[in-house]
Parts: sequence; C-alpha cells; structure tokens
Amino acid sequence: HRHLLGIGHLETHEILYLLDEAEQWVKLNRLPQKHSDRLTGLTIINAFFENSTRTLLSFEIAGKRLGADVVNMHAAQSSVKKGETLIDTAVTLNAMRADAIVIRHQSSGAVALIAERVGCPVLNAGDGQHEHPTQALLDALALRHKLAEQGRPSSDGMMNGLVVTICGDVLHSRVARSNILCLHALGARVRVCAPPALMPAGIEAIGAEPFHDFEAALKGTDVIMMLRLQNERMSGQFIPSPREYRHLYGLTLERLKRWAPDAIVMHPGPMNRGVEIDSNVAELAGQSIITDQVEMGVAIRMACLDVLTRRQRGVPGWAEGAWV
Ligand code: CP
Repeated sequence: HRHLLGIGHLETHEILYLLDEAEQWVKLNRLPQKHSDRLTGLTIINAFFENSTRTLLSFEIAGKRLGADVVNMHAAQSSVKKGETLIDTAVTLNAMRADAIVIRHQSSGAVALIAERVGCPVLNAGDGQHEHPTQALLDALALRHKLAEQGRPSSDGMMNGLVVTICGDVLHSRVARSNILCLHALGARVRVCAPPALMPAGIEAIGAEPFHDFEAALKGTDVIMMLRLQNERMSGQFIPSPREYRHLYGLTLERLKRWAPDAIVMHPGPMNRGVEIDSNVAELAGQSIITDQVEMGVAIRMACLDVLTRRQRGVPGWAEGAWV
C-alpha cells in the first residue's frame, strides 16, 4: 500500500496533484449538503496518541463527508494506558480490517513503523518533531487561494519567488519541517526565524534560510507563518519568558505594519495569543488566513483519503510506491 508519511517523500507534481484534487472538496464543503458517496463502505480509524483539535476533527469530518465509517481511538482512553505496545496496537487496529489508518504520535518515526505492520494505507497526522504532511498541504492550499484572490501569479500552485518566513519553535516543529519541504518544492524562498536554542542545526540542507533577528527576517516577507512554543517538547533549552519572547519574536500589529505591512499572516494553531501572535494580528481582516487554513484542512484530508484508498476501490491511481 501507499502511505502518506511526509512531504519529504512526495514529488512536486504529487503535491500539486493533491492540491488540485482538494479543490472539488472545497466546493462541496461550501454547499449546504456536504456529502459524497466516494468512500461508502470503507472504514477509517483515527488513532491519536497525542492531543489534537483541528487534525482529529477534520480527518473525522473528511471521512464522514466522503461516506466512510469513521472511528476514533484516543490513546488516553485505550489499552495503551495498560501497557500495550505501539506494534500490538497497530496489529489490533489492522485486524479490524480498517481501510485507512490515520495516526498522530508523539515519537518521530512511529507512524512509519506502524505503516510497515498494517495492510492498509497509513496517513501521518503528525509524528513527534518529524512531519505533519497534511498541515503543509492545507497551508499551501490556503495560501494558493489567498494569492489567487489577490491576483498574484500562483493559481497553478507554484509559488516561485514568494518569500515565506516561518517564525517560532522551529526545533520542535513538525509543521515547520513539512512546510519548509512543501514551500521549497513549490518554488518559494523560505526563511526560518527562531531563538538560537530553538533553531535546528543544518536547516539550510532542507531549503530554509535561518534568521535569529525577527525584524530582519520580516523585511521583504510576503507571508508570515507563526508557530507556538512547544513547551511539552522542551528538554532544558534556554528560552525567554513569554513576555520576553513576545518582545523579541511576537507578531504584534506594530511590528507587522512596520516591517511587512501587506504580508499574509498564518498560524497552524493552537495559538498562544499574546505570546507569539497578538489577537489583533490573528484576526486582521484581509491579511490573516488562519481560519481559512482550518477550512482547507477538511478538503485536503478528503483528497488524501480519496487518493490513498483508490487501490482498494479498484480506481486507477498512481504507480505503486509513489507515496512512501
Ligand atoms: N495544527 C494542528 O495540528 O492542530 P491540532 O494539534 O489541534 O490538530
């Protein structure tokens, strides 16, 4: 089976294909009756070993809007709490003959491990600090819609020359990693900005230009993507207090207007308002597309579930292995 484990495994044309496939679902989702029978009879299991609001709910809604039977496994209420291993959990889910399994896990690589043990497509809903591919795809789709609305030349999906700055806890962020890979593949120039302790070594190797000075990074930026401090993943790094952090790296209205007055503002959520982003920026009409990102999440996940289950449904798809 083909899986969706990370943007790093996708060719640029495959990214563009998924974005194009999602457009039909954006249209459907805007209708009063948001239903398709595309996946009727299929069973999708969402196995979440880590908390989620957006990803879990949008995968559930995506599966249901396509007519599939969707069940959710929350690790906190499962036999994982009784000591069951990841592999045994995966084998158990597989025995229930799921047609696709969506997994979020706190360990990088855990989703790939499960993909080797099950007989159906596996979709990565975020694994540790590694990747969150559907987040990067939904971000690209939301950005493509905004650029098209502004009459800027990206309606084909390519973002050639667009300057995107990703600022925050880059070290711990699977969202940053997947977005760097995705935006770079689509031709954007990606800057990352973080305090020294939260900047991974060798970030240039995956196509990003590192900055520590936020205002230098903002200058000339077309798109700003803010990330939260992932306190749950810190292991002794020196980081400023929330107040100091806002002073150095917070996206305030004053800073935005001074250094990148027309920039599109993004945030994957959940936000820490008043720390990495102020409320008046998060809600800035005409520039913030944070709620559009959430909307696009459902359409992207519908596209991924549809494309990845084509083989089981006997629908011609892409070559074996194209996804892994
Ligand atoms: N952006 C994102 O993955 O949000 P959740 O953790 O709420 O799913």
